[in-house]
Amino acid sequence: MTSNGEKIHVATVTAPTNIACIKYWGKANVKLNTPLNSSLSATISQDYLRAVTTASASCSFTSHRLWLNGIEEDITTSKRFKACLDGVLKLAGDKVDDNGYAIVKKEEWKNMHVHISSYNTFPTAAGLASSAAGYAALVAALSSLFCAKETFDGELSTIARQGSGSACRSLYGGFVAWEKGSNDNDTGSDSMAVQIANENHWPEFRALILVVSDIKKETSSTTGMQTSVATSSLIKHRAEQIVPTRMKEITKAILSKDFKTFAEITMKESNQFHATCLDTYPPIFYLNSVSKSIISLVHLYNDWAGDVRVAYTFDAGPNAVLYTLDKYYLEICALIKYCFLGDDHSLFVPSTIDLPSSLDPTLLKAVDKLKGDGVKKVYVTKCGEGPITLKEEDSLIDLKTGLNLYNP
Ligand code: DP6
Repeated sequence: MTSNGEKIHVATVTAPTNIACIKYWGKANVKLNTPLNSSLSATISQDYLRAVTTASASCSFTSHRLWLNGIEEDITTSKRFKACLDGVLKLAGDKVDDNGYAIVKKEEWKNMHVHISSYNTFPTAAGLASSAAGYAALVAALSSLFCAKETFDGELSTIARQGSGSACRSLYGGFVAWEKGSNDNDTGSDSMAVQIANENHWPEFRALILVVSDIKKETSSTTGMQTSVATSSLIKHRAEQIVPTRMKEITKAILSKDFKTFAEITMKESNQFHATCLDTYPPIFYLNSVSKSIISLVHLYNDWAGDVRVAYTFDAGPNAVLYTLDKYYLEICALIKYCFLGDDHSLFVPSTIDLPSSLDPTLLKAVDKLKGDGVKKVYVTKCGEGPITLKEEDSLIDLKTGLNLYNP
């Protein structure tokens, strides 16, 4: 309750990042933020990487305000924020007490302003899908605040998509496709996220996130993909001829837990996305020399094993995500330590993981030439669930003043 007696309503959620195996790159409709091609990702466990967002609303607030990582941002001109707020408001429902009495009627929410506070537990805009987690958390928090109800399955994902395309996939756990939609309606209502398998489907599945750089990327995804659409001839071929088949094949591989097929498609996709960046004019380079060493390491390791045990994928930045299986991940971590971390075990999160003390000498000889110190941190993690609603006491907004409580 504020000093003038108006109640502050709050909802707090956490939302995951997701890392695409089939990449979204290029928009079919910029205004609706629909993609040229469908894409597919793994939702990453929220154990270490997540966005936490409180959405609050009150009749006492005089404007919409947002704090990101403790700092107030000007959102008055943000079309993305407005699209998310207006989209969820349209689905608003009554907020009822334990006796079913409406504390707020659905039509009353639009008379209030909102205060939002959000933070990420990892670097923003460094190619670690912070915008995906951030907009998924925003839409999930607003939806919980306004007691929103979807009129069809996946409707909230069509709203998150308008915040940031990849955000629509973070509204579900496990493996998630973003179906590009038909592009023949003027709302993009069929361009939505669909869960392929939940987070419990493939328990052996592991994700290693190798932070190579936590500096904000030079070319944002939004700008980069617009230039690619305008200048790359590869992007059209990719969207029309390559991705539809890969979507079918990788979906089948996930459902049947065929890691080899999954891994090969994932690596080829990453490579073709970066080839599209290079085919853009002027070209865009997201990979650096450390990224390239990680690619070599993965191929050398798979060749040594005579199998496909691990896959790499890179988004719009030099950081790598490696997908592998439970039985291999400790050996791969030991190899990463040997090549890129020296003796510093503490760069693993969690730092308690117990690595094998020795690796095959033939393998070490093969990777020796890659040695350097380019990896700053390794998150050892797995597939995880979609947004989680927290309790009122977890609010990042002060329930008396309506102001931000979070300080990094
Ligand atoms: C390389 O979702 O950040 O990570 O819709 O313009 O906000 P906007 O783009 P964004 O692009 C993500 C691109 C990618 C690939 C992917 O996640 O599929």
